[in-house]
Amino acid sequence: MEVIITKTTDEASAFAAEIIERKLMSKPTAVLGLATGSTPLGLYKELVKRHREKGLDFSKVTTFNLDEYIGLSPSHPQSYRYFMEENLFKHINVPAGAIHVPYGHADSVLDFCAWYEDEIKRSGGIDIQILGIGGDGHIAFNEPGSSLGSRTRLKTLTEQTIRDNARFFSSMDEVPRFAITMGVGTILEARQIILLAFGASKADIIAEAIEGPVTSQVTASALQLHPDVTVCLDQPAAAKLKRADYYRWVFEQKRRLVPSLVSRAS
Ligand code: F6R
Repeated sequence: MEVIITKTTDEASAFAAEIIERKLMSKPTAVLGLATGSTPLGLYKELVKRHREKGLDFSKVTTFNLDEYIGLSPSHPQSYRYFMEENLFKHINVPAGAIHVPYGHADSVLDFCAWYEDEIKRSGGIDIQILGIGGDGHIAFNEPGSSLGSRTRLKTLTEQTIRDNARFFSSMDEVPRFAITMGVGTILEARQIILLAFGASKADIIAEAIEGPVTSQVTASALQLHPDVTVCLDQPAAAKLKRADYYRWVFEQKRRLVPSLVSRAS
């Protein structure tokens, strides 16, 4: 795991955008795994900026989102599909047919989930997966106790997740109780993973996920088993890490060796 600690959220978002830009330069047909929530907003802004200002090209890209609420139509303002349209898709040139967001109104969730898994495989697999982390350590909607080998499926959200996400709805009662989510096993098959976490409210869970034991009680801890994970944190989110000095030291050594690789973080 490579842990990058930046002074500001914007720097961390730009660092992640740089990784994606480099991937698209070397592989224009890259498959991107995308997350919703507050955390990746800065990254999406940065990608839109690079598309507008530098012509960063998404025309051959395929995308797969991590999750979607059950029961919300794609046009519902709180659906993840809507979120992605508003914050990324409508601002870049990714073809509509190459966009995949789980469908929260599927007649058979079981069949839909099997299709989604197959579709990821048919596309050649995810090259870079973007992740945020929930207050209970979830990645996608893999709540505590999710099998670390789990695949795309229906998941019941925890009370904490419903409380955390209530800020986007007019009341807690309106937050859906179920979601379709990629599994931890699905996520771990991505070739490269970028986990973003910002703010003091994520400090405890980031320390558990990165430096604690690998456990299904904190599904983000499964990322420790993946060979290519970059964790981009701002300073408040990194505040509880015991080895923060070492991560900074590693980064500093790399910066000396390959300045262009790491010039965006500090
Ligand atoms: C969203 C997702 C979730 C969020 C997590 C953090 O697609 O999969 O795991 O990444 O709940 O949410 P924010 O970024 O709002 O703190």
